[in-house]
Amino acid sequence: MKEIKSGDLRSMYLNFFKDKGHAIIRSASLIPENDPTVLFTTAGMHPLTPYLLGQKHPAGNRLTDVQKCVRTGDIDEVGDASHCTFFEMLGNWSLGDYFKKEAIHWSYEFLTSEKYLNIPVEKLAVSVFAGDEDAPRDEESAEIWQECGLKKEQIFYLPKKNNWWGPAGITGPCGPDTEMFFDTGKPKCSPECGPQCDCGKYLEIWNDVFMQYNKKEDGTFEPLKQKNVDTGMGLERTVCVFNGFKSVYETDVFAGAIKCIEQLANKKYGESDEITKAMRIIADHVRTATFMLGDQIGVTPSNVDQGYVLRRLIRRAIRFMRQLDIQKGEMVKIALHYVDFYREVYPELEENRQKIVDELTKEEEKFSKALEQGTKEFERVVAKAEGKTIDGQTAFRLYDTFGFPIEMTIEFAKEKGFEVDVEGFREKFSEHQKKSQLGSEQRFKGGLADHSEKTTRLHTATHLLQAALRKVLGDEVAQKGSNITEERLRFDFSFGRPMTKEEIAETQRLVNEAIKKAMPITCREMTVEEAKNEGAIGLFGDKYGEIVKVYAMGDFSKEICGGPHATNTSELGEFVITKEQSSSSGVRRIKAELR
Ligand code: ALA
Repeated sequence: MKEIKSGDLRSMYLNFFKDKGHAIIRSASLIPENDPTVLFTTAGMHPLTPYLLGQKHPAGNRLTDVQKCVRTGDIDEVGDASHCTFFEMLGNWSLGDYFKKEAIHWSYEFLTSEKYLNIPVEKLAVSVFAGDEDAPRDEESAEIWQECGLKKEQIFYLPKKNNWWGPAGITGPCGPDTEMFFDTGKPKCSPECGPQCDCGKYLEIWNDVFMQYNKKEDGTFEPLKQKNVDTGMGLERTVCVFNGFKSVYETDVFAGAIKCIEQLANKKYGESDEITKAMRIIADHVRTATFMLGDQIGVTPSNVDQGYVLRRLIRRAIRFMRQLDIQKGEMVKIALHYVDFYREVYPELEENRQKIVDELTKEEEKFSKALEQGTKEFERVVAKAEGKTIDGQTAFRLYDTFGFPIEMTIEFAKEKGFEVDVEGFREKFSEHQKKSQLGSEQRFKGGLADHSEKTTRLHTATHLLQAALRKVLGDEVAQKGSNITEERLRFDFSFGRPMTKEEIAETQRLVNEAIKKAMPITCREMTVEEAKNEGAIGLFGDKYGEIVKVYAMGDFSKEICGGPHATNTSELGEFVITKEQSSSSGVRRIKAELR
């Protein structure tokens, strides 16, 4: 098999599915819009949830894309061969269109055809759902794989634990899947060895999910209105497996960054396990930080939510840079390497080049000295400690005075054979801070929001709020983020100073006036150009390709959006702004409720 690079795989995949009638759509933001329970986009299907549930997608019912994803659940695993906090997921979707037969035949064609990956059929193994009380054994998929030419021994029936994907959160679309593996040819580690085994014989490359159920809050599965296909292929991982590399860090995706780190550190990747691990962590974390800062919505480092995860990544990377004797100010070089490497696929990186430079420089500036002093403080604490535990008060001091994320203190402690009293830290923390990042970390473990009536109404209120803010504060107001729970909306927007009491009151009044007018909420599909000409606000051309949905509420608000929305503003009730505060520099945050 010839060597394949990430760019080859990306374009091969998208073009293959384009030839099969799929519209290529652009990667959505890494920051999920209007989703209260997750901090980052974690899979290709994630931004498509409303469409999997039955809404019509403006680009049609066959879609394909490469989606930017972040999964930080296993941040501490980064440094081994396969974990990355950021990755690209290739995917294709049928929104109530084709189903198992086409999906499997196309997967097979892409994997084995000479024109594409050209993997010999005997090197493949697949798994299918074994069946249980929620859904039947997937004989259909197994038969289709046999039709393609796979032998019975290459097909494994596995239970829900292995062969069911989703929902991404607690509720939402999900279904049985069929996963595709590359068989490395190693001997089986035991008679039971199969794709479910992590001995390294079988390496996963692709997953076709047959999304035909909606998991409800009570844990039951109801059939969806439409049968969907959702597939996901990890780009870095597949390039790694295909080329027979030992780790994703050997792929072209990381090659340039690692070289840059080697030069800065004057050390060689592979020289020792410690050096290899540090270089992988730096390469991974700086890449993720670059994508977060250079996103179409974007975040900046802070102590809550996405901003806190970003801060953790940057600070952990700085820590490992110092370990390799890389001095202050060099992180930007690694980040810019990524901007250059990815800018054609993700032009938002180029558009945000300056922001990336400024924010990384600022954060490095802020943390470098504290890291040095904090490390000394840490050594002192360890030296005089009587037991093997670092108490909560000390962990909080390291956080509060030296900016050590608690996870970093835990990591430092572990290296010295110490534990940290995390509960104690938590208590100290919540005494000092109303909003704890641990809360958001827990939230991150949660799942996708279902689009309940309450969240839908709050989403509609967000449109009215943005329109009102622009009337009161001017056109510089633009959405920077939105987060909705059952109880409240949270809206971040660009604006350089705190709002006055009068401005807050006027904004609230305007929204309530719009609600009282009982305006119908209309949705029209049009091209980005038409939307612009009509004066619609929103992220132009970023999300759905050429055709977008524009939601209008009288002449009060006109905004590009994926929905869903209430049908009339009168459904909203009374709108109350509960808080106006700073979010990050140049960005304000409003919290509001409907009563
Ligand atoms: N949504 C599926 C996954 O992430 C395809 O594996």
